[in-house]
Amino acid sequence: MTFDDQELLQKHPVLERILIGSSDIQRRVKELGNEISRDYGKRVPVLVSILKGSYIFLADLTRCLSIHHEVDFMAVSSYEGGTQSTGVVKIEKDLKTNITDRDVIVVEDIIDTGLTINHLVELLETRAPRSIRVCALLDKKPARTKDVDIAYVGFEIPNEFVIGYGLDYDEKYRHLPFIGIMKG
Ligand code: PRP
Repeated sequence: MTFDDQELLQKHPVLERILIGSSDIQRRVKELGNEISRDYGKRVPVLVSILKGSYIFLADLTRCLSIHHEVDFMAVSSYEGGTQSTGVVKIEKDLKTNITDRDVIVVEDIIDTGLTINHLVELLETRAPRSIRVCALLDKKPARTKDVDIAYVGFEIPNEFVIGYGLDYDEKYRHLPFIGIMKG
């Protein structure tokens, strides 16, 4: 944890503690970038960033790739079915890229229940990509209700409400450079 992280923690009393410090995130994102670059080699993957949460992760990850690649964005919202998400997602913003025969990497900030990513991958598969893999910064495994194959995982985290590095509480705190746990 850096000095800046400590200072920010004190500035935001809603935070209980820092779960993953900014320097640990940067180090891990670099490792993921190296791994993806090695795996794809001369292929040119399309990184599909799921808004909004993944925008910061995408921005850092793309700068850690040493291979040619493209980026595109999708925004989805869940159709609510009572208090629990049904996992059926509504496309609010679709891709501009035609992903048929392309290598797709879906970039997410967090996989929680797994419902959103499951539905998204199913949907993208109907467009006949050459391959499709998931890259998620955070994997909240204890919250999983649907099995997901995540090819690239930054960190496994416990079942806590986390904010920062793209993740929000009521649209706030996305800009924080670390992953923090909210006070209960
Ligand atoms: C988060 C995250 C995933 C989804 C994961 O998005 O970015 O898309 O929830 O949850 P699940 O595995 O339980 O389906 P959120 O709905 O918070 O929207 P945001 O990214 O715009 O903040």
